[in-house]
Amino acid sequence: MSCNTVGVALATLALGVCVTLAAAVSQGPSHIDIFGGQSGKVPFPHIQHQERLKDCNVCHSVFPQATDAIKKMKEQGALKPKKVMNVQCIKCHREEKQAGKPHGPVTCSTCHAK
Ligand code: HEC
Ligand code: HEC
Ligand code: HEC
Repeated sequence: MSCNTVGVALATLALGVCVTLAAAVSQGPSHIDIFGGQSGKVPFPHIQHQERLKDCNVCHSVFPQATDAIKKMKEQGALKPKKVMNVQCIKCHREEKQAGKPHGPVTCSTCHAK
Protein backbone atom coordinates (compact mmCIF):
# COMPACT_ATOMS: atom_id res chain seq x y z
CA MET A 1 0.00 0.00 0.00
CA SER A 2 1.41 3.32 -0.99
CA CYS A 3 0.86 6.38 1.14
CA ASN A 4 -0.87 8.31 -1.62
CA THR A 5 -3.20 5.65 -2.98
CA VAL A 6 -5.29 4.99 0.11
CA GLY A 7 -9.02 5.61 0.13
CA VAL A 8 -10.50 8.56 1.98
CA ALA A 9 -11.90 6.30 4.70
CA LEU A 10 -8.42 5.05 5.53
CA ALA A 11 -6.62 8.35 5.04
CA THR A 12 -6.37 9.31 8.71
CA LEU A 13 -5.13 5.89 9.80
CA ALA A 14 -2.70 5.65 6.86
CA LEU A 15 -1.30 9.09 7.56
CA GLY A 16 -0.40 7.92 11.04
CA VAL A 17 1.36 4.84 9.65
CA CYS A 18 3.30 6.84 7.07
CA VAL A 19 4.47 9.40 9.62
CA THR A 20 5.66 6.58 11.89
CA LEU A 21 7.59 4.92 9.04
CA ALA A 22 9.15 8.20 7.94
CA ALA A 23 10.36 8.87 11.47
CA ALA A 24 11.95 5.41 11.67
CA VAL A 25 14.09 5.93 8.54
CA SER A 26 17.41 7.59 9.34
CA GLN A 27 18.45 10.44 7.08
CA GLY A 28 22.03 10.08 8.24
CA PRO A 29 24.20 13.02 9.31
CA SER A 30 23.93 16.31 7.42
CA HIS A 31 27.72 16.33 7.03
CA ILE A 32 29.94 13.27 6.52
CA ASP A 33 33.71 12.93 6.22
CA ILE A 34 34.03 10.11 3.69
CA PHE A 35 37.06 7.82 4.10
CA GLY A 36 39.50 8.60 1.28
CA GLY A 37 42.55 6.51 2.25
CA GLN A 38 45.96 8.08 1.71
CA SER A 39 44.45 10.80 -0.44
CA GLY A 40 42.73 12.18 2.64
CA LYS A 41 39.17 12.31 3.86
CA VAL A 42 36.49 13.91 1.72
CA PRO A 43 34.20 16.40 3.51
CA PHE A 44 30.74 15.80 2.06
CA PRO A 45 27.59 17.94 2.51
CA HIS A 46 25.15 15.01 2.65
CA ILE A 47 22.02 17.05 3.33
CA GLN A 48 22.67 19.42 0.44
CA HIS A 49 22.77 16.43 -1.93
CA GLN A 50 19.69 14.83 -0.38
CA GLU A 51 17.71 18.02 -0.84
CA ARG A 52 18.91 18.64 -4.36
CA LEU A 53 18.81 15.09 -5.73
CA LYS A 54 15.73 13.81 -3.80
CA ASP A 55 16.40 10.18 -4.80
CA CYS A 56 18.61 8.44 -2.21
CA ASN A 57 19.40 5.66 -4.66
CA VAL A 58 21.36 7.96 -6.95
CA CYS A 59 24.17 7.07 -4.54
CA HIS A 60 22.85 4.35 -2.24
CA SER A 61 22.23 1.83 -5.03
CA VAL A 62 26.02 1.30 -4.91
CA PHE A 63 26.54 1.27 -1.11
CA PRO A 64 24.12 0.94 1.83
CA GLN A 65 22.88 3.70 4.13
CA ALA A 66 25.29 2.80 6.91
CA THR A 67 28.25 4.35 8.73
CA ASP A 68 31.53 3.88 6.81
CA ALA A 69 29.74 1.71 4.23
CA ILE A 70 32.18 2.60 1.44
CA LYS A 71 35.26 1.89 3.56
CA LYS A 72 33.87 -1.48 4.70
CA MET A 73 32.92 -2.57 1.18
CA LYS A 74 36.38 -1.65 -0.11
CA GLU A 75 38.02 -3.62 2.71
CA GLN A 76 35.86 -6.63 1.78
CA GLY A 77 36.77 -6.28 -1.89
CA ALA A 78 33.11 -5.62 -2.71
CA LEU A 79 33.81 -2.16 -4.14
CA LYS A 80 36.79 -0.90 -6.13
CA PRO A 81 38.60 2.11 -4.65
CA LYS A 82 37.73 5.30 -6.58
CA LYS A 83 34.58 3.76 -8.07
CA VAL A 84 32.18 5.95 -6.07
CA MET A 85 34.46 8.92 -6.71
CA ASN A 86 34.59 8.42 -10.49
CA VAL A 87 31.16 6.94 -11.28
CA GLN A 88 29.15 9.11 -8.92
CA CYS A 89 30.82 12.23 -7.50
CA ILE A 90 33.07 13.40 -10.35
CA LYS A 91 30.82 12.14 -13.15
CA CYS A 92 27.86 14.13 -11.90
CA HIS A 93 29.87 17.24 -11.07
CA ARG A 94 31.41 17.24 -14.58
CA GLU A 95 28.01 16.82 -16.24
CA GLU A 96 26.51 19.68 -14.24
CA LYS A 97 29.55 21.82 -15.03
CA GLN A 98 29.27 21.12 -18.75
CA ALA A 99 25.57 21.99 -18.58
CA GLY A 100 26.53 25.34 -17.07
CA LYS A 101 24.75 24.56 -13.80
CA PRO A 102 25.92 24.86 -10.16
CA HIS A 103 28.20 21.90 -9.58
CA GLY A 104 30.49 20.34 -7.01
CA PRO A 105 34.30 20.18 -7.14
CA VAL A 106 36.12 18.35 -9.95
CA THR A 107 39.75 18.73 -8.82
CA CYS A 108 41.57 16.41 -6.38
CA SER A 109 42.52 18.89 -3.69
CA THR A 110 39.10 20.54 -3.58
CA CYS A 111 37.58 17.25 -2.46
CA HIS A 112 40.42 15.54 -0.59
CA ALA A 113 41.35 17.36 2.61
CA LYS A 114 44.67 16.15 3.92
C1 HEC B 1 25.10 12.21 -3.52
C2 HEC B 1 25.14 10.93 -2.87
C3 HEC B 1 24.17 10.61 -1.77
C4 HEC B 1 22.80 10.77 -1.75
C5 HEC B 1 21.90 11.29 -2.84
C6 HEC B 1 22.36 10.27 -0.46
N1 HEC B 1 23.43 9.84 0.27
FE1 HEC B 1 23.36 8.99 2.14
N2 HEC B 1 25.39 8.78 2.10
C7 HEC B 1 26.22 9.17 1.07
C8 HEC B 1 27.59 8.92 1.44
C9 HEC B 1 28.81 9.20 0.59
C10 HEC B 1 27.56 8.37 2.74
C11 HEC B 1 28.76 7.97 3.59
C12 HEC B 1 29.16 6.57 3.33
C13 HEC B 1 30.47 6.23 4.03
O1 HEC B 1 30.88 6.96 4.94
O2 HEC B 1 31.09 5.23 3.67
C14 HEC B 1 26.14 8.29 3.12
C15 HEC B 1 25.70 7.78 4.34
C16 HEC B 1 24.37 7.68 4.71
C17 HEC B 1 23.90 7.11 5.97
C18 HEC B 1 24.78 6.55 7.08
C19 HEC B 1 25.37 7.69 7.82
C20 HEC B 1 26.14 7.33 9.06
O3 HEC B 1 27.33 7.64 9.13
O4 HEC B 1 25.55 6.74 9.96
C21 HEC B 1 22.53 7.20 5.96
C22 HEC B 1 21.58 6.73 7.05
C23 HEC B 1 22.15 7.81 4.71
N3 HEC B 1 23.30 8.09 3.98
C24 HEC B 1 20.85 8.06 4.33
C25 HEC B 1 20.49 8.69 3.12
C26 HEC B 1 19.11 8.97 2.74
C27 HEC B 1 17.88 8.61 3.57
C28 HEC B 1 19.17 9.59 1.51
C29 HEC B 1 18.03 10.13 0.68
C30 HEC B 1 17.13 11.06 1.35
C31 HEC B 1 20.57 9.71 1.14
N4 HEC B 1 21.34 9.16 2.14
C32 HEC B 1 21.04 10.26 -0.04
C33 HEC B 1 25.84 9.68 -0.15
C34 HEC B 1 24.55 10.01 -0.50
C1 HEC C 1 34.12 15.12 -6.06
C2 HEC C 1 35.09 14.77 -5.05
C3 HEC C 1 36.37 14.08 -5.44
C4 HEC C 1 37.32 14.50 -6.36
C5 HEC C 1 37.26 15.71 -7.28
C6 HEC C 1 38.40 13.56 -6.29
N1 HEC C 1 38.10 12.59 -5.35
FE1 HEC C 1 39.26 10.96 -4.88
N2 HEC C 1 37.77 10.21 -3.73
C7 HEC C 1 36.59 10.85 -3.45
C8 HEC C 1 35.78 9.98 -2.61
C9 HEC C 1 34.38 10.28 -2.11
C10 HEC C 1 36.53 8.81 -2.39
C11 HEC C 1 36.12 7.57 -1.55
C12 HEC C 1 35.22 6.67 -2.35
C13 HEC C 1 35.90 5.88 -3.45
O1 HEC C 1 36.96 5.26 -3.20
O2 HEC C 1 35.39 5.88 -4.58
C14 HEC C 1 37.78 8.97 -3.12
C15 HEC C 1 38.80 8.02 -3.16
C16 HEC C 1 40.03 8.22 -3.73
C17 HEC C 1 41.13 7.25 -3.71
C18 HEC C 1 41.07 5.85 -3.10
C19 HEC C 1 41.46 5.90 -1.66
C20 HEC C 1 41.46 4.54 -1.00
O3 HEC C 1 42.43 4.22 -0.31
O4 HEC C 1 40.51 3.78 -1.15
C21 HEC C 1 42.18 7.83 -4.36
C22 HEC C 1 43.56 7.23 -4.59
C23 HEC C 1 41.74 9.15 -4.81
N3 HEC C 1 40.45 9.34 -4.42
C24 HEC C 1 42.51 10.05 -5.52
C25 HEC C 1 42.01 11.19 -6.17
C26 HEC C 1 42.77 11.98 -7.15
C27 HEC C 1 44.21 11.71 -7.57
C28 HEC C 1 41.92 12.94 -7.60
C29 HEC C 1 42.16 13.99 -8.69
C30 HEC C 1 42.45 13.43 -10.00
C31 HEC C 1 40.66 12.80 -6.87
N4 HEC C 1 40.77 11.72 -6.02
C32 HEC C 1 39.56 13.63 -7.04
C33 HEC C 1 36.21 12.10 -3.87
C34 HEC C 1 36.87 12.86 -4.82
C1 HEC D 1 23.93 13.35 -9.27
C2 HEC D 1 24.76 14.49 -9.01
C3 HEC D 1 25.76 14.52 -7.87
C4 HEC D 1 26.41 13.47 -7.26
C5 HEC D 1 26.28 12.00 -7.55
C6 HEC D 1 27.30 14.06 -6.29
N1 HEC D 1 27.19 15.42 -6.31
FE1 HEC D 1 28.27 16.75 -5.14
N2 HEC D 1 27.21 18.27 -5.91
C7 HEC D 1 26.26 18.19 -6.90
C8 HEC D 1 25.75 19.51 -7.21
C9 HEC D 1 24.68 19.84 -8.23
C10 HEC D 1 26.44 20.41 -6.37
C11 HEC D 1 26.31 21.93 -6.31
C12 HEC D 1 25.26 22.27 -5.30
C13 HEC D 1 25.05 23.75 -5.18
O1 HEC D 1 25.98 24.54 -5.45
O2 HEC D 1 23.97 24.11 -4.81
C14 HEC D 1 27.37 19.60 -5.56
C15 HEC D 1 28.23 20.13 -4.61
C16 HEC D 1 29.20 19.40 -3.94
C17 HEC D 1 30.18 19.97 -3.03
C18 HEC D 1 30.39 21.45 -2.73
C19 HEC D 1 29.41 21.90 -1.68
C20 HEC D 1 29.56 23.38 -1.39
O3 HEC D 1 29.12 23.77 -0.30
O4 HEC D 1 30.07 24.14 -2.21
C21 HEC D 1 30.94 18.93 -2.57
C22 HEC D 1 32.11 19.01 -1.59
C23 HEC D 1 30.42 17.72 -3.18
N3 HEC D 1 29.36 18.05 -4.01
C24 HEC D 1 30.93 16.45 -2.97
C25 HEC D 1 30.40 15.29 -3.51
C26 HEC D 1 30.92 13.96 -3.26
C27 HEC D 1 32.10 13.65 -2.37
C28 HEC D 1 30.14 13.10 -3.96
C29 HEC D 1 30.24 11.60 -4.03
C30 HEC D 1 30.10 10.87 -2.77
C31 HEC D 1 29.14 13.88 -4.66
N4 HEC D 1 29.34 15.20 -4.37
C32 HEC D 1 28.16 13.33 -5.49
C33 HEC D 1 25.83 17.05 -7.54
C34 HEC D 1 26.25 15.75 -7.23
